[in-house]
Amino acid sequence: MLAQNRFILLVVVGAVLAIVSLSLQFLNLIPTTPIGEDRSLHTLDGGVRVGLGKSRKRVIPVPHTNAPEPDPITEAYDYCNTPNRSEQAWEGHSLVDYKLLSVQVMIRHGDRYPLYFIPKTKRPAIDCTLSPSRNPSHPQLSSFISHMGLGGQGHWESPLSSVPRLPSHSNCEMGELTQTGVVQHLRNGQLLRQAYKRHKLLPSDWSARQVWVETTGKSRTLQSGLALLYGFLPDFDWTKLSVHHQWSTLFCSSACDCPARNRFLEDEQRRQYRLRVANSELEKTYTDMARTLGLPTRQLRAANPIDSLLCHLCHGLSFPCVPAGDNGSGGCLTPAQFAVIRRQQLEDEVDRRRVGLYHKYALLAMYPYLNRTAAKMERVAKGNEAGRRPRAGGEEVFTLSSAHDVTMAPLLSALGLEEARFPRFAARVVFELWKSPLATHGQQKKGRGKGERWKVADGELFIRVLYNGQDVTFHTTFCRSHDRHGAQPLCPLSNFLSFVRRDMFRVLNATSYQEACYKRPG
Ligand SMILES: *[C@@H]1O[C@H](CO)[C@@H](O)[C@H](O)[C@H]1NC(C)=O
Ligand SMILES: *[C@@H]1O[C@H](CO)[C@@H](O)[C@H](O)[C@H]1NC(C)=O
Ligand SMILES: *[C@@H]1O[C@H](CO)[C@@H](O)[C@H](O)[C@H]1NC(C)=O
Repeated sequence: MLAQNRFILLVVVGAVLAIVSLSLQFLNLIPTTPIGEDRSLHTLDGGVRVGLGKSRKRVIPVPHTNAPEPDPITEAYDYCNTPNRSEQAWEGHSLVDYKLLSVQVMIRHGDRYPLYFIPKTKRPAIDCTLSPSRNPSHPQLSSFISHMGLGGQGHWESPLSSVPRLPSHSNCEMGELTQTGVVQHLRNGQLLRQAYKRHKLLPSDWSARQVWVETTGKSRTLQSGLALLYGFLPDFDWTKLSVHHQWSTLFCSSACDCPARNRFLEDEQRRQYRLRVANSELEKTYTDMARTLGLPTRQLRAANPIDSLLCHLCHGLSFPCVPAGDNGSGGCLTPAQFAVIRRQQLEDEVDRRRVGLYHKYALLAMYPYLNRTAAKMERVAKGNEAGRRPRAGGEEVFTLSSAHDVTMAPLLSALGLEEARFPRFAARVVFELWKSPLATHGQQKKGRGKGERWKVADGELFIRVLYNGQDVTFHTTFCRSHDRHGAQPLCPLSNFLSFVRRDMFRVLNATSYQEACYKRPG
């Protein structure tokens, strides 16, 4: 009897811990930049391009306006990504005469309705139907809506054909994409269209194999992907489009099994839990909030109030209130309480980087995606080798992966972009593959053996990585130490390839994914 009770207690405690840590990990919304350290990410472009001289566009250094003390409320607005201002986008910028061979984009879905509700409060009143006359709107919104009506002509990998292609509820459902979310991605698509127009990335009669679109089965990712695609290729031909399904939020296809990855995540969640319970200000804030609402503290915590409060903030709604009741309940949740929770999340990000468990998790989580990304680049590059006839129908030159924060946050960490901000709504990571004019004109060195052929072509290929329009290439692990003021101002593709094929496992004391995943804990 005693043993049985103990067992039940253990199960209950375990379940509560799991829920708390999972939701914390999912909702860890804080932009990650400690003061001062994010400067480099933002000022990079001016620095790089000025030295190049020959670039086509004049370089305007990105202005720096970060206050020394990041105010959690200001940071939260940044996370909302309200589509009301023009944005800097450095996609498509390179050296003169370099040829853009391919672009691979990962996005986080746009603004969505909360996934959790705060008990006893009214749900935020947000309309998820689309209406071009409601703000925020977009010039392409009404043509987008009618184009989605023709979606039956596309090819949908199961189970995507049954997912709605537009948000449609006048009272949003949980997690539903809002009009703001649609507009954010129409804008992203339009930005990329402008950025790549002069590079003629896709011919106007692009073929089915040149465009690859993949998404998880959630309506918000599928709809976000379609909005970006529409902004990028307005009125695209549905019959050429196949939309592929990724069942895992890690986009790991058939290589998802990795026991070591799960162990790192569990250890990371324990770290996160310990840090949180050690924060007495946070504990007191949750207690105060729970008292206001007349709830047990545990129930409030499990309801992830930050998710719902962010939605209020992003949509200009005041924080929820409840009428006065027993036990001193009654009143409103306050921005000050919100700020305490977010400040703790900021501390958590700093601690996460210091401990490094999350980085190890992220390397293993994102290897399958990075391996696919690298393989695609190689395929496109080989198809473009001098003297080789282009394949009929062309190569995959544009890839779109429509994903979640739990996809993009580990991607940034795996690339070594630990200082990057936590992915806001409609965040984007872009990989560009470039070829030097030397290679394009086919002036290859003579007298090589067959085996060396690829090596030389490889030396003429370059990668750029961008996060929300900022060039972060030289902040990645694989190009951080590249001398960009030397002979080669771009990051060689070979750096990325050896990172993915071998070097990224060094942190894990291994030389391959298999070895790292199945290593016994030491
Ligand atoms: C955009 O919206 C945000 C959030 O509502 C607001 O703080 C900001 O001032 C707005 N910016 C412009 C340029 O209107
Ligand atoms: C990595 O990509 C290669 C193709 O370049 C493929 O053969 C291999 O199976 C992939 N490995 C994993 C673990 O995904
Ligand atoms: C890596 O392996 C070496 C030797 O086997 C060991 O001394 C070291 O502690 C290991 N490092 C990690 C991070 O596991």
